[in-house]
Amino acid sequence: MAGSKLHFIGLFSFMLSCSLLASASAASLKVGFYAQTCPSAETIVRKAVNEAVSRYPAMAAGLIRMHFHDCFVRGCDASVLLKSLPGNPPAERDHPANNPSLRGFEVIDEAKASIEALCPGTVSCADIIAFAARDSAYTAGGIYYAVPSGRRDGRVSLSDEVLQNLPTPFFNATQLAQTFARKGMSVDEMVTLSGAHSIGVAHCTSFSNRLYSFNATHPQDPSLDPNYAAFLKTRCPPPPPAGAVGDVTTTVLLDVVTPYRLDNKYYSELRHRRGLLTSDQTLMDSASTSRMVLHNKRNGAGWSRKFARAMVHMGSLDVLTGHQGEIRRICTLPN
Ligand code: HEM
Ligand SMILES: *[C@@H]1O[C@H](CO)[C@@H](O)[C@H](O)[C@H]1NC(C)=O
Ligand SMILES: *[C@@H]1O[C@H](CO)[C@@H](O)[C@H](O)[C@H]1NC(C)=O
Repeated sequence: MAGSKLHFIGLFSFMLSCSLLASASAASLKVGFYAQTCPSAETIVRKAVNEAVSRYPAMAAGLIRMHFHDCFVRGCDASVLLKSLPGNPPAERDHPANNPSLRGFEVIDEAKASIEALCPGTVSCADIIAFAARDSAYTAGGIYYAVPSGRRDGRVSLSDEVLQNLPTPFFNATQLAQTFARKGMSVDEMVTLSGAHSIGVAHCTSFSNRLYSFNATHPQDPSLDPNYAAFLKTRCPPPPPAGAVGDVTTTVLLDVVTPYRLDNKYYSELRHRRGLLTSDQTLMDSASTSRMVLHNKRNGAGWSRKFARAMVHMGSLDVLTGHQGEIRRICTLPN
């Protein structure tokens, strides 16, 4: 009895110190961190993003996704940017969840080069990703938020850590909620951020299991609108026989209604059973998440505000601050 009570107290103080640690590092990020040391840092990133997006609108989607993939694996430390080095285990960047689909690396590198020319060794790659994601949300959706900064860059990136931390497109709502809960994020934040799938594309390999060999009784996922499924089949061929390499290049828009506009139309599509990924459509499966979907569908302004808040929260996950980590000179290599 006494033992289990002690155990309980031990667990409780462990949980308390974890949450204090987490909030301490998140609290040490601050808006305008570079106001004295590199006042034009955020403007330089914004220009790089705006130029890239005006040439190639899809870049906004890539940069928002990059921030997610950075923050969920080892915290927002730009580990996603590090290239695999000979003699080392492969880096996050080369995991199939990132390679070849993750895009926007050149935009970050270009912004970093301009910033280094002006204020060398001052602005982290992790902050540049966070600024670029915010600027993308603004150009693609008119969603604006101030980004607390002061993140430092990590020196480690391991492909093996990707699947332990990122959700897959084949997850159900329970698994998605668990993945976010492990990062201290709520179910509502998970549903809110899934709205990022209002822009960008997915490769056939991320969803073609829903079209041809779903399970023993249903060749096609019954939660998929049959007309939409018929359209998707025209784009994505059946998976090849075992051992052969299939089509790994074709992509389909995640939101066919407003593909380049970050808005709440994504949620209307879910209601019409036109969520592209299993992980999208599954949000309609449980009473609690489907209520959140319908709420976001009806209240675009409310969703935008929640999206901004959830991006700031995601941007604070497990950050390195103060004297931790380093300020990389080149985003693809540790110093
Ligand atoms: C909820 C769990 C999530 C899952 C399972 C998931 C999975 C995926 C998958 C499989 C793709 C398509 C990759 C491909 O086949 O090319 C994708 C694309 C995308 N995801 Fe997610 N995602 C999730 C959450 C998020 C979050 C939280 C964000 C950002 C806040 C995000 C932003 C994006 C964007 C913008 C794209 C389009 C990328 C492009 O066009 O380059 N996703 N996601
Ligand atoms: C979600 O997936 C997990 C793991 O495959 C499974 O155990 C669970 O029953 C699923 N939940 C629902 C609601 O389908
Ligand atoms: C196939 O999927 C459907 C819809 O999710 C489900 O109702 C059915 O029980 C599944 N069948 C098998 C054999 O798993």
